[in-house]
Amino acid sequence: MIRIIFLGPPGSGKGTQAHLISNKYNIPNISTGMMLRQSFTKNPYQSHKIKKNVINVMHTGNLVNDDFMVQLINARINKNDCYNGFLLDGFPRTILQAEFMKKYKIFVNYVIEFVISDSIVINRITGRRIHIDSGRTYHMQFNPPKIFGLDDITGESLTTRKDDCEQAIRKRLHNYYQYTEPVLDYYRHESKVKNLQYFSIDGNRKITEIYEELISLLINK
Ligand code: AP5
Repeated sequence: MIRIIFLGPPGSGKGTQAHLISNKYNIPNISTGMMLRQSFTKNPYQSHKIKKNVINVMHTGNLVNDDFMVQLINARINKNDCYNGFLLDGFPRTILQAEFMKKYKIFVNYVIEFVISDSIVINRITGRRIHIDSGRTYHMQFNPPKIFGLDDITGESLTTRKDDCEQAIRKRLHNYYQYTEPVLDYYRHESKVKNLQYFSIDGNRKITEIYEELISLLINK
C-alpha cells in the first residue's frame, strides 16, 4: 500500500507530479485545491453561502477553514478507491490538519517536500492554465497544450485560476511559510519515530527529472 503526501509552496509542481504519480501507481490523486475548485462547478447541492465564502477565501490566497477541510478529506479518504493507497496533494497544510490525520489514524508512508525558490514560483504560476473539470494543468512555456488554449484530452478551453494573480500568490507564499512549514517539521519529526519516509526534492528542475527522482524514491524504499 502506498500512501503519499506532497507538500510544497504554490507552483512548486505538486499537482503536475501528483497527476503523473497517481497514474503510475494507480492510486487516487486527492488534491484539496482541485476538489474545492470542482465543488463550485459540480456540486449544485452545496449551500450558496458556503460556496461564496470559500471562493472568496481562495481567490484572495487565504487558507480555507480547518474544520471545512477536515470534513472534506474525511469524506474523501473513506471512499473505497482509497483502500489500496492515495496521494494527498495540498493536505495537511496546517498543524491542526496534520493532527486530524493522526487522531483518525490516517497513516502515510511517504511525505515528499518540493523545494523551490520564490522567483521561480511567480514565473510558473503566471504561465499556468488549467482544465477545471479534470484538474489537468499546463504552462504556456514549460508544458504547453498541443493546441493553444485547449485541453489535450477534451479539446475544451483552458482557464487561468483567479488566485494566480501576483497579489494572491504572495499571500499564498506567506501562508505557506507561516502555516505549512511547521507541518514539514512535524513530519520530519514523525519520520524519526514512525514508519514514515520523509524526502525533500529539488523542484527547480525539469518535470521529467523530478518525476524520475520520485519514481526512484518510491520504488527503492
Ligand atoms: P492548491 O490548488 O493546492 O494550490 P497551491 O498549494 O497554492 O499549489 P498550486 O496548485 O498553485 O501549485 P502546484 O505545486 O500544484 O504546482 P503545479 O503543478 O500546478 O490550493 C488552492 C487554494 O485552495 C489554497 O490557496 C487554499 O485557499 C485552498 N486550500 C487547498 N487545500 C487547502 C487546505 N488543506 N487547507 C486550507 N485551504 C486549502 O505547477 C505550477 C505551474 O508550473 C503549472 O503551469 C505547471 O505546468 C508548471 N510546472 C510544474 N512543474 C514544472 C517544472 N518542473 N518545470 C517547469 N514548469 C513546471
